[in-house]
This record gives sequence, structure tokens and C-alpha cells, in this order.
Amino acid sequence: MSDYQQFITNVKKKTGIDLAQYKEAQMKRRLTSLYEKRGFRNFQEFFQAMEKNEALFHEFLDRMTINVSEFYRNANRWEVLEKQILPKLLERNRRLKVWSAACSTGEEPYTLVMVLSNFLPLSQISVLATDIDENAISRAKIGVYTERSLQEVPEAMKKKFFTKEGMYYKIDENIKKAVTFKKHNLLADPFDTNYDLIVCRNVLIYFTEEAKQVLYHKFNNALRPGGILFVGSTEQIFNPSSYGFDTEATFFTEKWNSFVRVHRKDEFFFYKHFSFFQFMIYCYINALKS
Ligand SMILES: C[S@@+](CC[C@H](N)C(=O)[O-])C[C@H]1O[C@@H](n2cnc3c(N)ncnc32)[C@H](O)[C@@H]1O
Repeated sequence: MSDYQQFITNVKKKTGIDLAQYKEAQMKRRLTSLYEKRGFRNFQEFFQAMEKNEALFHEFLDRMTINVSEFYRNANRWEVLEKQILPKLLERNRRLKVWSAACSTGEEPYTLVMVLSNFLPLSQISVLATDIDENAISRAKIGVYTERSLQEVPEAMKKKFFTKEGMYYKIDENIKKAVTFKKHNLLADPFDTNYDLIVCRNVLIYFTEEAKQVLYHKFNNALRPGGILFVGSTEQIFNPSSYGFDTEATFFTEKWNSFVRVHRKDEFFFYKHFSFFQFMIYCYINALKS
């Protein structure tokens, strides 16, 4: 077993985190640069030191979970969410079940609440926000941010939902109340079901292809028929139909779909039981209807 493989086994035993499901070259590079900086020669020495030194262990966790985030990250996608996706979801159901998975320090779930507040009173909004990193969750609960993470926040929202305190911006308490934070490991913990919307952005890129495929199926099972999965700008799902998704909103090129929608049950039935000829008739009838 290589030095890194042994480290993966030890970390899994200690934390339950399976580094084997993260892209190896990237993760190894990040962790090697950390242990070298701290004066260790290999992963074995690094792990032994981590066992005795809590601060070093936290530094490791910090290095492996990349917490970079910002409000309205890739603002044009949030506009599509607001203009195109949410009106459709809300037409069917006014009490949306929403999950921000891998929420980091809270910018994403708080953005969700701000966008939803354009449709619903804050008292009717509830977002579950989860992350593997307890430190990030603690910071999210505090809700204090630098100007840099607010760059994309529309001016009206900034005025309405943030208070400037010195160099920092504090998020409104009522926005905070709409979010429930919990620790959750996407690669190990069970998923709840019946979500209308799952936002999981800028974390899938760190996972291996195999891990991503398992996750797409799990997200599909966690959503209601017609529910939406909103992924990051560089996390397009190739072949969404093989996971039970349709492309809902497309960007730039055909493959850049940030929003995928779970096939509705009636569509599943249709795909399973109808011949190609019947399919053509179905399309024809639908074309006449529209
Ligand atoms: C780059 S941040 C993305 C934050 C936010 N979603 C966004 O797009 O701005 C990635 C987050 O994924 C979290 N993460 C990494 N591995 C995870 C896992 N296995 N389960 C849950 N969260 C994980 C990290 O702790 C980190 O907060």
C-alpha cells in the first residue's frame, strides 16, 4: 500500500471521510503542500502528528474542504433560478422543500432565502443547509461577511438584508432564521427525500467520476418528480437522462446545463411502455396542444 493509500485508510478510520472519493491528484497536491509546509516528509509522519495535535488535524480538514464561496455566485444562474425555475416550482407548491448541499460558510443558502423572498414572506421560507465541515457551519451561523463575498448581491438586497459593522456585513436575523444548518457528508450520509429544489454547487468537481455518478442517482431519488437539481457552472451533467433527469435550462453550449429536472412519473411511465411510433404520435399531439 502506498504512503497516500495508507493515509486514506487512516483518515477514514479516524473521521469517516473517504478521501478515495475525491480526485486523487488534486487532493494529494493540496495535502502534500500542507505537510511539507509543516516540516513533515511523508503522509505517514503527517498522520502521526495529526493524531497528537488537534490544531494540525483541523488544519488538515480546512485544507481538504475548500470553503470558497460568495453570495449570488455566478449571478446569471441565480437570475435563471429566479425568473425561470422558481415560478414553475411555486406554481405547483407554495411550500418548497429546499436543500443547499455543501453550503460552506452560508453564502449559498442565504442567497437562496433572499431570492425566495421575492416570492414568499420570510416566515414561509425554509432551507436546509449542510456541509461536512463543522467550522464552516459555525461561521455560517454567525453570518458575518467581508465586502468581497457580497460583490454580486443586488444593491436593493444589500440594503434590505445586511448591516455594515466596521469592515464587515452582518446578515439579517430573519434571513438566518429561515436556514437550518446541519453537518452532513454527501459521500456517506443518507439523503432525505421529497425535495423540490437541491442546490449543490462547486463541490462535485472535487469528486471522482464514480462518486459523482452515485451522487446524481442519490440526488434524483431525493427529489420529487419535477424537482430541480441546480449544480455549479462547471459541473455540467453529461447524459442527464441516464440519471433520470431532463435538462431544464441550458447555457452557452448544449452541454452546460446547470439546472436539471427529475422526469415526472408520467414521463417515466411513458418512456417505459410506449413504442417509437406511439412516441411520435405523443409528440405530434403535444405540438398541437402548445
Ligand atoms: C467550494 S465550497 C462550495 C460552497 C458553495 N456551494 C458555493 O458554490 O459557493 C465546497 C464545500 O464543499 C464541502 N464539502 C467537501 N466535501 C464534502 C462532502 N463529502 N460532503 C459535504 N460537503 C462537502 C466543503 O466543506 C466546502 O464547504
